[in-house]
Amino acid sequence: MKKLILLAVSAVVLTCNLSAQTYNTLWIPDTMSGTTFNLNLVDTFAQFRTGNQTITAGVDNKFWGPTLFFNKGDTVHMNVHNGLNDSTTVHWHGMHLPAVMDGGPHQVIPPGTTWQPYWKVTNNAATYWYHPHLHEMTQEQLTKGLGGFIIVNDDEESALALPRTYGVDDIPLMLTSRRYDNSNAFVFTNTAYGDYMLTNGTPDAEVDLPKQYVRLRILNAEMERAYNIGFSDNRTFYIIGNDGGLLNAPVSVTRVILAVGERVEILVNLGNDNIGSTLDLKAYNNGQAFGFPGGEPGTSGEFGSLLNNIDFNLLHINVIAATNSPVIAVPSTLANNTYWTANDATVNRTVTVTGGNPGQPQNPFGFDNSHFEFNTINHTVNLNDIEKWTITNSNVFGHAFHIHDVQFKIVSRSTGSVGTHESGWKDVLYLPKNTSATFVAKFEDYSDSVHPFMYHCHFANHEDGGMMGQFVVTGGTTGVNEVDIASKDFTLYPNPANDRLYISFSDPSMQAYYVRITTVTGRTVYMLPRPQLQGGIDISNLTAGVYMLQLTDEKTKITTTRKFVKE
Ligand code: C2O
Ligand code: CU
Repeated sequence: MKKLILLAVSAVVLTCNLSAQTYNTLWIPDTMSGTTFNLNLVDTFAQFRTGNQTITAGVDNKFWGPTLFFNKGDTVHMNVHNGLNDSTTVHWHGMHLPAVMDGGPHQVIPPGTTWQPYWKVTNNAATYWYHPHLHEMTQEQLTKGLGGFIIVNDDEESALALPRTYGVDDIPLMLTSRRYDNSNAFVFTNTAYGDYMLTNGTPDAEVDLPKQYVRLRILNAEMERAYNIGFSDNRTFYIIGNDGGLLNAPVSVTRVILAVGERVEILVNLGNDNIGSTLDLKAYNNGQAFGFPGGEPGTSGEFGSLLNNIDFNLLHINVIAATNSPVIAVPSTLANNTYWTANDATVNRTVTVTGGNPGQPQNPFGFDNSHFEFNTINHTVNLNDIEKWTITNSNVFGHAFHIHDVQFKIVSRSTGSVGTHESGWKDVLYLPKNTSATFVAKFEDYSDSVHPFMYHCHFANHEDGGMMGQFVVTGGTTGVNEVDIASKDFTLYPNPANDRLYISFSDPSMQAYYVRITTVTGRTVYMLPRPQLQGGIDISNLTAGVYMLQLTDEKTKITTTRKFVKE
């Protein structure tokens, strides 16, 4: 079914007439649920506009991937198969999980390899997402369409009278835009902004929504643009959730700014609209001051765009008859979050947006006068500490600050009080030009002195340019997947393992010349010359216990030893 969607889109594009605006039916991503998720990453192509097809990449699809439904408390097992021609990574944005499962730049999945992270879902019910995070390749791979939604359910959220019929009164909306070259290829170099909106990958999207309260789960999956979102009749709508969960109570607004990486869940009342009437969800980006991402002047060039400084449609809505048991009111309370305050923090840190390193004009932005380096740990956090981070942007341009591992509470902003629209749990914060913001978070459950978590600007071009740092969480007794600190060239996973053992290389060009598995006392149990490692190493015949894996690199012939546990 899903394969047909973009072909249907192309037919509509081709029949587009000049007199009236025509729309294409909003694609609603397919769903996957349960506890085992098989995600196949593929290079493919899709018809977005008249003329050539566009080279894309997707997860079991032509562009963007299925929505994964997780239940809080479940342990989920991911089989991520990289069927692309390039290495990639898949990051579970917003999820609290061990660093080695996080899918950041260190967890490179070579082509043909299956990566099998797993973790217990402890996040609150909310809208999260997954996307590639390969250093210096994030913009290209995201542009091609890799990514998807994650929706977590939990008991508290399920007990509320909220719309939750997926695709009917509960709609995921992935907002992004693309620029095309003359042959309809996506442009992903020297471009910060697209020229044409794609909502869930659909150009000029429209959707039928029932005459009742409808929930929209909105994700800004752009490279750099922020959206000032509202409805065409300026109607009031209700923010019910931020990045990491429901707010304590709905917040009524007529506009909300969503920066790259942020999610917001809203309720909008269509109960007073006539069946057959229409309205638009729009970006009111006209008249934003310079510094607002997408507020730059000009319609072309690296920072220009046909969508800069204008109001434009995100979704055309046709009101249809109500469903059988519609939600007809906004709950007055939603959750009972107790948030961290500044006083809870025992450690204070600062991160400052700075310019690029001298002599590196290709990296215009950094943090604290440095750029991302694979082998530099910028911060070390003690497990279970509650920390206060102040992010300062004295730059002339806004940024979107994101941190892995935690959901945080914004406790202050230099511009005055923290908006009620961002009063819940967050993992991205919009940092307008010449401002600072302070958040508090607890770094709990997962320590690993080797595998770092990232913090970065979520603008894909800034992140690729090195506006990223990393931290490790150390200490405690709950460390997961500790490995030898000697070298970071490769990782064994899962660890413990019982059936197959996988090796993930930090440098995709690295190859195993020889793999030898020994017991801790040095007895060799497996010799694997020039092993084909894509399918992992079958260790199902080993008896339970601790083993050493010695891997000799093809190029350097250096041998590194790692410990693993056979269950
Ligand atoms: Cu959404 Cu580090 O990423
Ligand atoms: Cu930035």
